Amino acid sequence: MRKPVMAGNWKMNKTWAESVVLAQGISNRSKDSWDDDVEVVVCPATVNIKAVDSVFEFDHTPVAIGAQNVHWEAKGAFTGEVSIKMLQDVGASYCIVGHSERRGYFGETDEMVNDKATALLEAGMTPIICCGESLAIRDEGTYLEFVTKQVLAALAGLDEAQIAKSIIAYEPIWAIGTGRTAIPEQAQEVCAAIRACIGELAGPAAAEAVRVLYGGSMKPANVEGLMAQPDIDGGLIGGAALDAAAFEQLVEACLK
Ligand code: 13P
Repeated sequence: MRKPVMAGNWKMNKTWAESVVLAQGISNRSKDSWDDDVEVVVCPATVNIKAVDSVFEFDHTPVAIGAQNVHWEAKGAFTGEVSIKMLQDVGASYCIVGHSERRGYFGETDEMVNDKATALLEAGMTPIICCGESLAIRDEGTYLEFVTKQVLAALAGLDEAQIAKSIIAYEPIWAIGTGRTAIPEQAQEVCAAIRACIGELAGPAAAEAVRVLYGGSMKPANVEGLMAQPDIDGGLIGGAALDAAAFEQLVEACLK
């Protein structure tokens, strides 16, 4: 059985103080049993990671921390970037890569996603690798080819154990922040295709182990139908992760 993952992507929201308040709200609602049954991750803005980590460390909260981006080089003249070591140093153990907002607004390519995922795995961090098609590609009907190509490019050159440890998040761009969620069958179709292409790349054991998340307007009202799908192992949540009570409900839905 795969352990579900519920991850909150706070995007460019929350100041330092607001991040502490949200982290404290999540901590107050957390349960020790989360540790055994679900991996809960929050990804604050980089400058707020240490503050959130301090709240969770003080409270022994069973919630891990992820970053939203990283550079693949160890150090050097890359103004504005942060390294894996810097993220680990402030408490991050996961990192989102290839989010459609980074691909679309900041020119992140499949090759950069692969470089980031490879460097993270080599450093012992877990990449949350995002993929997902635009509405135009969905309407054209080529979304399975598009998404599986993104996934295979992100995982190129990784060994079976590294692929098994990676987390893939399927986030159709048309469902992000729009309130228009993929219906469970649509999300399942793509998540199953992702698992199948990983099976072809790295064998059945890696395909069975890899966690595939859905993201895109996931919220307490629709989480159960999505989590009931056999190839959906959790969620990558934007808007609903900014509310401690809603996020708690999303985590709890993974335990059913
Ligand atoms: P929303 O949950 O706000 O649609 O965002 C999804 C997302 O992009 C998570 O990375």
